[in-house]
Amino acid sequence: MCGIIGIITSERDQTGSDRVLDTVVEGLERLEYRGYDSAGVAVIDPERKTGLWRARAANGTRSLEDLVKQMEDAPRGSPAGIGHTRWATHGRPDEHNAHPHVDCTGRLALVHNGIIENHVELADELIAGGHRLVSETDTEVLAHLIEAAIVANPEARLEDAVRVALARVEGAFALAVIHAAWPDEIVAARRVSPLLMGVSDDHAFLASDVPAILGLTRDFFILEDDRVAVLTPGSLRVTDLDGNEVEPPRLHVDWDLDAARRDGYDDYMSKEMAEQPEAIANTLRDRVLPDGTLVLDEVHITDAEFQAINKVFIVACGSSYHAGLMAKYAIEHWARIPVEIDIASEFRYRNPVLDAQTLVIGVSQSGETVDTFQAIREAAAQGAKVLVISNVVDSSMARESDAVLYTRAGPELGVAATKTHIAQITALEILALYLAQARHQLTPADARALLAHMDVLPEKVARVLERSHAVHEVAERFRDSSAFIFLGRHVGYPVALEGALKLKELSYLRAEGFPAGELKHGPIALVEPGTVVIGVATRTPVWDKMMSNIAEVKSRGASIVLVANDGDEETARHADAVLWVPETEHLFAPIVDVVALQQFAYSMARIHGLDVDRPRNLAKVVTVE
Ligand code: M6R
Repeated sequence: MCGIIGIITSERDQTGSDRVLDTVVEGLERLEYRGYDSAGVAVIDPERKTGLWRARAANGTRSLEDLVKQMEDAPRGSPAGIGHTRWATHGRPDEHNAHPHVDCTGRLALVHNGIIENHVELADELIAGGHRLVSETDTEVLAHLIEAAIVANPEARLEDAVRVALARVEGAFALAVIHAAWPDEIVAARRVSPLLMGVSDDHAFLASDVPAILGLTRDFFILEDDRVAVLTPGSLRVTDLDGNEVEPPRLHVDWDLDAARRDGYDDYMSKEMAEQPEAIANTLRDRVLPDGTLVLDEVHITDAEFQAINKVFIVACGSSYHAGLMAKYAIEHWARIPVEIDIASEFRYRNPVLDAQTLVIGVSQSGETVDTFQAIREAAAQGAKVLVISNVVDSSMARESDAVLYTRAGPELGVAATKTHIAQITALEILALYLAQARHQLTPADARALLAHMDVLPEKVARVLERSHAVHEVAERFRDSSAFIFLGRHVGYPVALEGALKLKELSYLRAEGFPAGELKHGPIALVEPGTVVIGVATRTPVWDKMMSNIAEVKSRGASIVLVANDGDEETARHADAVLWVPETEHLFAPIVDVVALQQFAYSMARIHGLDVDRPRNLAKVVTVE
């Protein structure tokens, strides 16, 4: 959830500025989507009594940058530094709780992403031992545990003390530590929360995500679970928790840093929505042979194993869950395998019944969402086959699965999932067709006809995007409404859920999604004059049932906005306003229909003057339970 960065160098800057400090603060700006409650930096500063210099600010990296500029004692020529951008879990999002945290001596500074679950008992023990803990965070115990290990064994190296401390903690962590007594190294460690490292001639660096250090390297080393790394200028060494040296896996990244910037758009979200046709095309690319056969190179489960599968579970959170729900309809319809879908945080604790003939599909754009990650681990532990749909190559989830299907949407920095969501649905539809083919449920002619529909999806989505002004006008009409109900049936139901999620996360308005047929079993009590009902009313086999449900809310005074197929005046007659979309094969319709609802939520947020890229209380990657 939080973002961390660290850099160490043997170069001493002669310009009067501090290269390490500047690099850390710049890197934090690129990590801000991971959390932006507060930010902080600490660097080695031999000029100071403690040997460390630290600055922390509430309200994210821009405040930190301003603060650093104003601080006259900011160091020059530091050899090493670490930084952190926070999404608060334990303790208020203020300066006092911002990382880096220090030990009692003020000579050790530490940044941490994750949660230390046994922090209360550790804090009690540390306080009883004379340590002074000053924040409300779970993280601070780590700094003091390392300090205690150094005091207990003055011969120990910093990495040894980190290992001793980690033996005491339960939970998830990616951490980086600097200490004035070891000015030429940064020690890092990881369990569950992601951490990448890089090395160049005179430097070494680490970060929780690629964009923070992409300007410094394209070749990364992945720190795996329960590993400790020591970074020194120009090198790094990785060991396990017993101190045995291990080779870290490597990752080469082709992304252009510009791809992670706004490219002239007002915000990341509008840029990322505009990239959706390309995200679909890229996700489809090379996966379909000219004869219509589907090829999934990254899937290392054999056709025989696929044929033996008798149940599919999909686990995911948020928008990824909605993509999974859309896939349930497609897999059951085409491949004829029963599909269960779970919110990942529920799956893990409900003792699901799995075996070697169960395929568990984990859907996560980041591949790091802790609930989904732990759910697939649980599935693997029970012997199920695990397939992951992820947008991040070599993400933690991708590395722990039997097979991966990458979505190729490119980096997504806006907190709201848009192009990655569309690419997930695309990948899941491909998977559904693949399963149907492997299980001989689909004739080649039918498969070819469906693939022809998929090929034109980028063009259809582009047509929806061209109508953003019309969608904006509809949002303007309902700008003062405070209650929105999203309705859909069949695959329109997850589209409705996604539309409601987008509106609430971006605009902070009351927005709930329901299966339209369920409304009269309770939620219809919410409908009154002034309620805006947004219905997914594109032509599917259940269109007429959907329209009956729309009539029910209309007669109770709701204003009606319908997502309808181009030229469908019959549907339009029932609506106060229409969001027009091109018609497509009904199981692919979510890919087209959801784009209109993304745009509606975007426009509403802009109309209300809200920051669409950084909605309040949210973070891009949720690495805490
Ligand atoms: O990285 P993931 O796909 O696992 O993330 C899952 C959710 O946190 C994510 O989709 C979230 O709901 C977004 N804010 C939706 O816009």
